[in-house]
Amino acid sequence: MTKARILVADDQRDVLEALKLLLRGEGYEVETATSPGGVLAAVEARDFDAALIDMNYTRDTTGGIEGLDLISRLKTLDAFLPIVVMTAWGSVEGAVEAMRRGARDYIEKPWDNGRLLNTLRTQIELGRALRTTQRLEDRQRLDRKEGFPEIIATAPAMQPVLRLMERVGPSDANVVVTGEHGTGKELVAEWLHAASPRAGRPMVTVNLGGLSEGVFESEMFGHVKGAFTDAKADRMGRFELADGGTLFLDEIANIPSAQQAKLLRVLQTGMIERVGSSKTRRVDVRVLAATNADLQAEVAAGRFREDLLFRINTIEIHLPALRERREDIAPLAAHFLRRHAQRYRKALAGFDAEALELLLAHPWPGNVRELDHAVERAVLMARQGTVRAGDLALRAQTGAAPRLEELTLEEVERMLIKKALERCGGNVSQAAVALGLSRSALYRRLQQHGL
Ligand SMILES: Nc1ncnc2c1ncn2[C@@H]1O[C@H](COP(=O)(O)OP(=O)(O)OP(=O)(O)O)[C@@H](O)[C@H]1O
Ligand SMILES: [Mg+2]
Repeated sequence: MTKARILVADDQRDVLEALKLLLRGEGYEVETATSPGGVLAAVEARDFDAALIDMNYTRDTTGGIEGLDLISRLKTLDAFLPIVVMTAWGSVEGAVEAMRRGARDYIEKPWDNGRLLNTLRTQIELGRALRTTQRLEDRQRLDRKEGFPEIIATAPAMQPVLRLMERVGPSDANVVVTGEHGTGKELVAEWLHAASPRAGRPMVTVNLGGLSEGVFESEMFGHVKGAFTDAKADRMGRFELADGGTLFLDEIANIPSAQQAKLLRVLQTGMIERVGSSKTRRVDVRVLAATNADLQAEVAAGRFREDLLFRINTIEIHLPALRERREDIAPLAAHFLRRHAQRYRKALAGFDAEALELLLAHPWPGNVRELDHAVERAVLMARQGTVRAGDLALRAQTGAAPRLEELTLEEVERMLIKKALERCGGNVSQAAVALGLSRSALYRRLQQHGL
């Protein structure tokens, strides 16, 4: 095998000298650079097996912005170049950000020679393997839409949800997906679209919460040239873009009543007019909507039009919070671990027992998204083999849901009954079936537990 060539960059000469000495001693060919410009010029000029780069270059910066920029630019120059960053000791957040940008690993300064050599050796081997094995083909396979997004749902609380999705997915029914932040509402909308005959057409998403009053109409319905000062040309709105497909209205509860009225009119007539034009156009869209608000309560409070609610929620799919489907925590964590380990090319087999326990005990107020982020971060932090508790950055939470094994039998029963009732929307007969009890037996227990 040819000698591996490493590019080392730092603005401090003594650091460069020390690294050069160390790496040459191990039989590597070493080139050095003292600025981001120098690094880019070197990589443009020839191939390297790895780049070991500092995050800060101008004397008095420590934010690592230059390093992050440099990583992004290196990735566009040579997507296969393994980049290892050097960060100040203790600046773990910087390392995480660097790895999100595409660095493969990090070394803390002052470095440990053995660890540094180990890390570089691993990355060089990995990088060489990646370059030679038809990596491009792999990528294309990974990036290809498999149609349906993968939804992990093994918990009992998710089974009625899945059944409902399967029933309404293929139909043209308007669906409102509700649930707390990060429970997977958008994912469910994508799934419903994929399951529909409209799957071959686009699903167009509009975040209504993010649309200012001024641009709502032109965004949704389009405009014609000259309709207002900035209208330099005709522009299609989201309704037209979604024609034949699905329009996903995210954060539907967040629109003022004037916009609610406009939306309602279009949904009732199936016709739109671009701003500045009186020509009506027919659009054929299926509307999916999502919100973390309680729309019934919004209606009761006079903040959301009841007729609009009727129009959009032919079916409501409610996603339980992650704490109400704790059975999904482990499979979701494993799913995200696989995904991020692949993305960051880390060989991680799973979580060790202590890490898993932490995951299971955490209350997850940010739901599945919070779990996703926690696992991503842990994957970046993990050294090798398995993710450990320390990689997770989850502190034992005060006010956390108590662990099952800390409860009495009676408390567990009470909790299970409460959850069954919540899942069944307060319907006692359904909850009884779910719990394997007769209706009267459940009533007795409800009284006994004061529920
Ligand atoms: N059941 C699931 N299986 C696999 N991944 C999931 C699941 N639920 C959510 N996710 C992932 O979690 C993240 C958050 O999901 P999503 O964006 O759909 O949530 P949301 O309810 O729309 O959140 P918000 O209210 O904050 O907009 C996404 O990356 C999504 O792919
Ligand atoms: Mg969302």
